[in-house]
Amino acid sequence: MATFFSSSSLFALLFLLAYHAPTAACTHHHHHHKLKTLNFSLFQQETSNKTGFVILKEVEAGTAPSMAVCMDPLTLKPDPSSEVAGVLEGTYIASTLDGLRSLAIVTLRIKQVKGHEGSVSILGSVHNTKPAVVPVVCGTGDFLFVQGYVTYSPVALNPPSVTFKLEFNLF
Ligand SMILES: *[C@@H]1O[C@H](CO)[C@@H](O)[C@H](O)[C@H]1NC(C)=O
Ligand SMILES: *[C@@H]1O[C@H](CO)[C@@H](O)[C@H](O)[C@H]1NC(C)=O
Repeated sequence: MATFFSSSSLFALLFLLAYHAPTAACTHHHHHHKLKTLNFSLFQQETSNKTGFVILKEVEAGTAPSMAVCMDPLTLKPDPSSEVAGVLEGTYIASTLDGLRSLAIVTLRIKQVKGHEGSVSILGSVHNTKPAVVPVVCGTGDFLFVQGYVTYSPVALNPPSVTFKLEFNLF
């Protein structure tokens, strides 16, 4: 926690100095809110039967798996061959009868992003084809006691691979 808050404080201060110098004398309360925000994006790179596996097949033909497990690289850019910044480990369980939504139970192990290292756990409903907002449960390491949400969106479907964008909004 200490590292997270102190580094993001420094970031926010630099941001304020660079872009908001004339208003730098505004209230302490306003500054305090800014200090705690950390936003970044990572890309989940999943390949069927390599990094992602179906545990239980769909109930009806043409829908998503009822349960799947994955351990996917998290890259800094949409390109699957771009630099790896962490790994996503998770279980997805169908949560609607049409098979389009699943409950994602996911831990994002982050090796290095903007000088931060640790894990962020998220829990919530995701959609196969549309963006979803998933709450952050908590974190470890530099993300200890973190709050916020992750916007989880499909960006590329190139069977047997698929890429999802995860936009972190941490406070
Ligand atoms: C993954 O493996 C399963 C079981 O062997 C097979 O039915 C399925 O077609 C494979 N999927 C892909 C995309 O290769
Ligand atoms: C970070 O995300 C929050 C919530 O979406 C937003 O209010 C804030 O402006 C973002 N900050 C940056 C630096 O993008």
